[in-house]
Amino acid sequence: MSYLTWDDSYSISQKIVDDQHKTLFNLINRLHDAMILGKSKQIMGTVLQELLDYTVSHFSTEEKFMIRYSYQWYVPHKSEHRKFIDQVTSFQKGYNEGKLILSLDIMGFLKDWLVNHILKTDKKLGEFLQDKPGI
Ligand code: FEO
Repeated sequence: MSYLTWDDSYSISQKIVDDQHKTLFNLINRLHDAMILGKSKQIMGTVLQELLDYTVSHFSTEEKFMIRYSYQWYVPHKSEHRKFIDQVTSFQKGYNEGKLILSLDIMGFLKDWLVNHILKTDKKLGEFLQDKPGI
């Protein structure tokens, strides 16, 4: 059983975004598994970097759609993205400096943030994008 399992309740009915969310689930699962299996600091650091990079890229995809279609909730949505990136960057810095270990608490934060963000904020965006061409 995966730590984070995708099902259709997470779909925002936009394939590009859903596929990216599935990749984020997969990266969080890889990070969780690496932690549980006691993988090396180097391996966990690599997965953490992949997660951070992919998250930045994913947020950029959503923000481009929001700008293209003048989405009225762009600013608060982008603000949620920014805060999450800042938080994960802070985790990464602490981890790389040996001041912080990856724990179930941190995994729980990543999981809960992503799930809540998809179910509330991204779903609202998905509804808005329903009738927009070229997505
Ligand atoms: Fe899928 Fe707004 O992040």
